[in-house]
Amino acid sequence: MSAGVHTVAVIGAGKIGELMLSGLLRSGWPVDKLLATARRPARAEELTARYGVRVVDNLTAVDEAAVLAISVKPQDAAALLDEIGPKVPADKLVISLCAGLPTSFFSRRLPDGTPVVRVMTNTPALVDEAMTAISAGAHATGAHLALAEEMFKPLGQTIRVPESQQDAVTALSGSGPAYFYLLVEAMIDAGILLGLPRQVAHELIVQTAIGSAVMLRDSGEHPVKLREAVTSPAGTTISAIRELEKHGVRAALLAALEAARDRARELAAQAD
Ligand SMILES: NC(=O)c1ccc[n+]([C@@H]2O[C@H](COP(=O)([O-])OP(=O)(O)OC[C@H]3O[C@@H](n4cnc5c(N)ncnc54)[C@H](OP(=O)(O)O)[C@@H]3O)[C@@H](O)[C@H]2O)c1
Repeated sequence: MSAGVHTVAVIGAGKIGELMLSGLLRSGWPVDKLLATARRPARAEELTARYGVRVVDNLTAVDEAAVLAISVKPQDAAALLDEIGPKVPADKLVISLCAGLPTSFFSRRLPDGTPVVRVMTNTPALVDEAMTAISAGAHATGAHLALAEEMFKPLGQTIRVPESQQDAVTALSGSGPAYFYLLVEAMIDAGILLGLPRQVAHELIVQTAIGSAVMLRDSGEHPVKLREAVTSPAGTTISAIRELEKHGVRAALLAALEAARDRARELAAQAD
């Protein structure tokens, strides 16, 4: 199996499925090698109008595609697999983008021997800056993982992790963009509290976020070192840090990510 040669069907093309479709198209995947499925006719029309992609029913997608990328909500996955599971020939590759669901959830509902790969990407895929973690499930070979990587590499960075780490990945990078947006939103509010116009506060914080992110990525330095470089003795930054520590921001993040990890487990239990 090599990239762009076979047909990929995005089953349940909502927000994440659309990110995947548009990323594959941007990377040069031929539109006639892509299929999508949707539950509502209006959504199907939208996808065809936006990308020129053929939207078909789930069983046609199973029939025509070599790779089935399942991007429905975890709570919709069992019903979907009731419909398509018995019809999936065991030589198709099933890629799950569903948060929380282990590959065993799919394997139990697919013919014996069907390779399953579990993927957790995130919304910066929209600007080709996604972080995508990829794990092999039952029957997935190195070639299947390599193909999944080829499909997600154009959307940003990819990393291979053991499946046992995927719930933690979901909590960190899957949900991660939301934590940064919340921080930015709160800092813009703080700017307004300090008397800055909203637009100025927005510009200051967004560029500061971008600059800090690029330094984190490109300098290779530990975040503590980068923070220390901004924290002079008896200066302004340490006064702010004292307040952040006093209000338990670090502990809040530890608890928040643990809650996201637990919710991923809960979703899997409810989907079964
Ligand atoms: N959003 C994120 O940031 C993010 C990040 C990482 C992973 N994920 C995972 O990605 C998956 C999708 O999330 P999302 O945010 O993209 O959800 P979403 O926008 O609701 O997309 C799911 C789509 O699947 C459709 N669908 C449901 N059952 C179907 C069926 N039987 N046949 C065909 N289409 C069906 C839904 O149709 P309707 O429009 O009728 O509901 C919807 O359009 C989830 O499993 C989530 O855990 C999401």
